[in-house]
Amino acid sequence: APKKPKSWRFKLSDQLPKHVAVIMDGNGRWAQMRDLPRHEGHRAGAKSARAAVSAAHKLGLEHLTLYAFSTENWSRPKEEVRFLFDLLLDFMKSEVSTLLEQSIRLQVLGELSDLPQGVRQAVRQVIKRTSGGTEMTLNIALNYSSRVELIRAVRLMVEQGLSPDQVTSEAFEANLYTAGQPDPDLIIRTSGEYRLSNFLLYQAAYSEFYFTDVLWPDFGEDEFNEAVKAYAERNRRFGLTGEQV
Ligand code: IPE
Ligand code: IPE
Ligand code: MG
Repeated sequence: APKKPKSWRFKLSDQLPKHVAVIMDGNGRWAQMRDLPRHEGHRAGAKSARAAVSAAHKLGLEHLTLYAFSTENWSRPKEEVRFLFDLLLDFMKSEVSTLLEQSIRLQVLGELSDLPQGVRQAVRQVIKRTSGGTEMTLNIALNYSSRVELIRAVRLMVEQGLSPDQVTSEAFEANLYTAGQPDPDLIIRTSGEYRLSNFLLYQAAYSEFYFTDVLWPDFGEDEFNEAVKAYAERNRRFGLTGEQV
């Protein structure tokens, strides 16, 4: 049979996103469908996270953000929270060599200081070791809340003693966790949910959205490329008319 062409092969003329952000959702339902405990869904989801990093790097994206743990997720059962942090520790241990080889820099969006000491130390170490990476920035949103991020930015500006006229979008953005990084061009959410769940509320002002029913553990490299391909076909207007852009 003739080989089906991969629909996501890119032409040079295609617009590639610089920054893709992913709300990795549906691990629990993936496990439930298989009569497995929820943590097996998270374990499978961690594989998809690795696939997303690899896909983004191969495409030449400059920034990838993965939403791994929200401040609201603390309200889940204690064992589930502990398992998620164990997975994160595994990820730090197993991926550091890949990140170094591929010149990927790790950053965290969120309050690292409130995390269990072991996790905090491991993450800080990987951030430090990969800080020279120039090919791609991998942001893990961890203990992240967009509302906390926004209020924190205001607090930092007050602490910096800014006068009212110094409170500009530049000053504000410099105090977000994402300081120095471009806004996400594309936000992907899996598992058929259509909401932001306290994710990048400010930075998403002009993001394109890609929603899919695929559950996160089933979202592999092909699915990632498919989403980027869909983005390449979007028309972004930024408030202008179709003729102006
Ligand atoms: C996403 O999967 C992972 C985290 C939020 C940490 P869920 O655990 O939310 O999976 P569902 O939504 O219950 O299926
Ligand atoms: C969003 O997923 C947070 C992460 C992916 C880490 P949730 O599963 O926590 O979101 P809600 O509760 O369905 O909005
Ligand atoms: Mg969920």
